[in-house]
Amino acid sequence: MHEIFDNRRYLIPFRSALLPQIFTDVLVIGSGAAGLTAAIEAAEHSDVILISKGELAATNTAWAQGGIAAVLDPADSTDSHTADTLTAGAGLCDEATARRVIEQGPDAIRRLLDWGLRADKDNDHIDLAREGGHSARRILHCEGDATGRELERCLIDRAVRTRNLRLFDHCFALDLITPGSEPGSPCMGAITHHPRFGLQMIWARATILASGGAGMIWRETTNPPVATADGPAMGYRAGASLADLAFMQFHPTTLYVAGAQRKLISEAVRGEGALLLDESHRRFMPAVHDLAELAPRDIVSRAIHETVARQGTPHVYLDARPVKNFAQRFPGIAADLAQYEINPAKDLIPVNPAAHYTIGGLWVDADARSDVPGLYAVGEAACTGLHGANRLASNSLLEAVVLGTAAGRVSQEMRSDTADNAWGTAPRSGPASVISDIPISDQGELDLTDVRSSLRSTMWRNVAIHRSGSKLSDVQDMFDFWARYTLDKIFDEPAGWETQNMLLAGALITRSASWRTESRGCHARADFSEPTDACRVHDLWRRTNPTPTILPVLTSVPV
Ligand code: FAD
Ligand code: SIN
Repeated sequence: MHEIFDNRRYLIPFRSALLPQIFTDVLVIGSGAAGLTAAIEAAEHSDVILISKGELAATNTAWAQGGIAAVLDPADSTDSHTADTLTAGAGLCDEATARRVIEQGPDAIRRLLDWGLRADKDNDHIDLAREGGHSARRILHCEGDATGRELERCLIDRAVRTRNLRLFDHCFALDLITPGSEPGSPCMGAITHHPRFGLQMIWARATILASGGAGMIWRETTNPPVATADGPAMGYRAGASLADLAFMQFHPTTLYVAGAQRKLISEAVRGEGALLLDESHRRFMPAVHDLAELAPRDIVSRAIHETVARQGTPHVYLDARPVKNFAQRFPGIAADLAQYEINPAKDLIPVNPAAHYTIGGLWVDADARSDVPGLYAVGEAACTGLHGANRLASNSLLEAVVLGTAAGRVSQEMRSDTADNAWGTAPRSGPASVISDIPISDQGELDLTDVRSSLRSTMWRNVAIHRSGSKLSDVQDMFDFWARYTLDKIFDEPAGWETQNMLLAGALITRSASWRTESRGCHARADFSEPTDACRVHDLWRRTNPTPTILPVLTSVPV
């Protein structure tokens, strides 16, 4: 990677002492399921500020359709859910983390129900759905296919009524603050930008990064516009290790209509009996996997990709005609389809895969601690080892609420004056001043929209469902070139900062994909088509280290 990727510690020049100062015990960056649960829990013991870069509800969480996976049926078990998670994770899941999150799932769901989450019911029981890779019906859902919207409503409702918690929307975090610029320096909060208040320093003893994923880096994505990889990029600049970046999950079924947004068609639709058909209206999944349309998503996505390539057509079809009462069970999807005059009771739905879930992220321990003192990461911004090389459907909201709560709880450790942080016994007036100096670039203007769309197209064509060493290497060279005239600029609004973050994250993902000379889970290489023992490890990348730190996978499952 070009040295400019590692040399820029901050996106902008600043003198902390000259900016407005805000103080808190815990700063949470992100208002999705992970950030809100972390903030609500942290407010039990501390003064908390939560920020989000847009409206509070503008999150991936709010777009979730299928639901939350948890062991809620007495006939189901932690063992079974763990086994399904490990199978989907293709040898890269850390088993103890998976078991711990799954064990805590039922309590997390009970807490949400106590807070007013309106789960769909079948008579008096929670109605549980089935999704790909699950051997049992264990997906709690809300308003049919609007689980995320209801979860976000419930958590925001709780957060606004929580004492000690301040919520700042439209507040963009540019960078995490560390007193030193080398990796290892502790985190003391963030520099933020608000359209009305401008730049501000938010000093915090503990910072919880819950900024979501990187879906927007790919041209085809199910994600909302907020998913621009700001968290991993900020974390990398601050010296945190990022792990397993090669693993981006592609969802098999998004609506593929020219010019339309790639709306997700939930896996739960296949769970209710919908089938995948090729151009000749024949099923192709039974020949690929025993679970056919409900095989793990990496397998279904690749099968669709290969069918499309073989046929020379832009998409395959989802046949939802076998699904009973489609419009009642999936009202949101039915409404989306109606906009294009597609009636799922009669018509086939054109579908194709799209970038969906960012498995890699800041490497954290089982309580969400990163390797930067004072910095925690949760939700899609983090990598806990739970998802391995491929996330099992609906396990991410589960992870967000379970580990969000854990992070909120353990962040209390940073309040102690003996804690391993930059504050020590510093008074509340704040620690030493932080200065960022960046020379003004003498290169010309940049067409940001063009850089962003070129990046997204490049990632989709070369770093998506099928990859090869030579193309990954070409992309690395191209990103090095783009970085020289994109990362030297100083922007004064979020679109510029997001584009710089996307380029950094895209380069890091490409480097990890290039390093991983194997195919495993959702990382498929044409030149290394099998998993290898040598790569059955977590690859951790830290600023200024040109080679990754390798960690073993902690599991008893042989692969
Ligand atoms: P998000 O919910 O994405 O929240 C990120 C937050 O960070 C936002 O508030 C954003 O404003 C903020 N932020 C980002 N950058 C900055 C910055 N620089 N400064 C300030 N704030 C910032 N998972 C399931 O388990 N079940 C499902 O059914 C399901 N369906 C899905 C359907 C769709 C269409 C999509 C896109 C995802 C789905 N997922 C599902 C995945 C799941 O929604 C996400 O993994 C999860 O919601 C991530 O939660 P989060 O709290 O980590 O991040
Ligand atoms: C879906 O509803 O298919 C998405 C579920 C998920 O991403 O976990």
